[in-house]
Amino acid sequence: MEYNIKRHLDEIASFSTTKPDELEQFRIKYLGKNGILNTFFEEFKAQAPQQKQVLGKLLNSLKQAASEKYNTLKNELDALGQQEIKPLDLTLNATNGAYGARHPMSIIRQEIIEIFSRLGFTVTDGPEIEDDWHNFTALNFQPDHPAREMQDTFFIEQNPDIVLRTHTSSVQVRLMQNQQPPLRVLMPGRVYRNEAISARAHCFFNQVEGLYIDKNVSFADLKQTLLYFSKEMFGADTKIRLRPSYFPFTEPSAEMDISCSLCGGKGCPMCKKTGWVEILGCGMVDPNVLENCHIDSKVYTGYAFGMGIERITNLKYAVKDLRLFSENDIRFLKQFENNI
Ligand code: DAH
Repeated sequence: MEYNIKRHLDEIASFSTTKPDELEQFRIKYLGKNGILNTFFEEFKAQAPQQKQVLGKLLNSLKQAASEKYNTLKNELDALGQQEIKPLDLTLNATNGAYGARHPMSIIRQEIIEIFSRLGFTVTDGPEIEDDWHNFTALNFQPDHPAREMQDTFFIEQNPDIVLRTHTSSVQVRLMQNQQPPLRVLMPGRVYRNEAISARAHCFFNQVEGLYIDKNVSFADLKQTLLYFSKEMFGADTKIRLRPSYFPFTEPSAEMDISCSLCGGKGCPMCKKTGWVEILGCGMVDPNVLENCHIDSKVYTGYAFGMGIERITNLKYAVKDLRLFSENDIRFLKQFENNI
């Protein structure tokens, strides 16, 4: 009998439930009229007086354990039941959810798109994994051009004909292959270069490409469009200057600077004390490129430009470290919350 009591004590100690019918089973088993305790007490009556002393204590402790366990669980279940039927207070204030914020790069990309939309540009995109032809060859890159080399471009090892696009100019090619002029399109997207990551360089970044092809498109159209963009983006006082440059896919080519929007042209670390900051490359689409894409270069001319969105964002928000744009540190992103 002693052994049995120990086993029952253990069973009671480890018993737990959240179901009323299981608790009722427990009660019947131990505390019911024909339950274990009553049966034991019946047997107890027949014991010799000396045994009764020891056994009486044990039986009382068993009874106490069963009753306490039952009462505790019953109270818990009752409390749970009350909670369930507690009516909803519909007059309580709603708690505000935490809203996210747009990424600074998304804000600026959208602003760029909006400005060019006002001039009739539409938006399209293309693949980030490209082939050599769209990224280089169709754009008039010679076979030995340095940009094709391993230190600049991510090639796919098994197939060096496949690259991660190094610029959004590849989308121009896809567009011209698929549509005849007039074309007036903006092409935003992520691009990749094999660069060591630092505060000033990254192995991926974002560009916006622009392309306008029609009859009689001139360099003057390009210049006026870029001036309009710069003033809309950085303020009416903004000045631009075009410096002759070279790109395989444009002729003539230029790089464009704006008067530094941070210091107003007086000279600061952003403009390296020159008062000017380069923001894009541009030029008249090389006739070879038009012909590669089956557009008649005797009938059509066009201009193209490409700018880095990170640079424009930096000029707006003075972000000192490029890596912040892709780390998604909430303390950084939170600062742009009001710009939604
Ligand atoms: N693709 C060039 C780059 O990544 C930028 C560029 C320059 C794009 C001139 C153009 C352009 O469309 O006409 O540096």
